[in-house]
Amino acid sequence: MPIITHAPKKRKKKTMHTGRVSTGIHEYDLLMNGGFFKDTLNLISGPSGSGKTLFCMTYLYNNALKGKNGAYITIEEDADQIRTNCLSLGMDIAKAEEHLLIMDIPKLRKFYTNKEEIYDENSLLDVDNLIDLIKRNCQNMELLVIDSIVPLSMRYKYVNEFRTALFRLKLALKELGVTAVITTETKPGQPEAISKFDIEDFISDSVTILKMGEFEKDITNWYSDKHFSERFMRIHKLRGSDHVKSYVEYRITSDGIKIFAPSSLFR
Ligand SMILES: Nc1ncnc2c1ncn2[C@@H]1O[C@H](COP(=O)(O)OP(=O)(O)OP(=O)(O)O)[C@@H](O)[C@H]1O
Ligand SMILES: [Mg+2]
Repeated sequence: MPIITHAPKKRKKKTMHTGRVSTGIHEYDLLMNGGFFKDTLNLISGPSGSGKTLFCMTYLYNNALKGKNGAYITIEEDADQIRTNCLSLGMDIAKAEEHLLIMDIPKLRKFYTNKEEIYDENSLLDVDNLIDLIKRNCQNMELLVIDSIVPLSMRYKYVNEFRTALFRLKLALKELGVTAVITTETKPGQPEAISKFDIEDFISDSVTILKMGEFEKDITNWYSDKHFSERFMRIHKLRGSDHVKSYVEYRITSDGIKIFAPSSLFR
């Protein structure tokens, strides 16, 4: 049975690449060789309940505590519910609100519908309207999260239209100068799936896959067969950098997201 350790808090100081932004999870930064590259688009992909939203909030929350401004755009989930969930992981969003803007699209959609303004209820799910909203509200942001992009696809008849719309979004985010994270879904029954539409991963500069469920075989190559962990994650790609390529275990705990792997992986 290999020794499974949590990465040590204090390690020998090593030179991280410049121009990186912490993911908010110390161990994950080590696996990525320094975190996300600044001003890039990063995808978190996983099934329902795998922790995508909590990963994103950890990213914004821990950076907000360090004074970095971030915006979280929730497309479908209720923002108050997210705040409550975060609190159960030890993240008191109220403490970070000075540097953390939460944009609640479900609430905005309701507002516009009630006002019967130029927007119809669904117009906020249009990628170009979202770009417009981001440009008007996020000029002073360093970090930005869109969680999730899946409902945005409903406005497009063909996947190619959605792909070009996402590409416009990527360009707009780059122009704005934000290090962005978007989330997408995978189905638990499709072990090889990387993203829902098979396009999000191509437009993204890094891809993190979250996996959840019962695993019949060891997907890490380092656990014993008898290990019954429920959650694993893997950096599928990170343009411009080496990174750890194998699966690592993660747990969602009252202290946040914790990553477990042999200490040799934390280079
Ligand atoms: N305080 C907690 N302690 C332990 N686990 C928790 C805690 N809070 C949430 N979780 C776990 O995290 C899961 C929810 O994570 P999250 O909302 O980030 O998932 P998600 O991938 O965004 O899901 P969806 O696709 O449905 O939005 C819960 O189903 C639960 O398993
Ligand atoms: Mg979610």
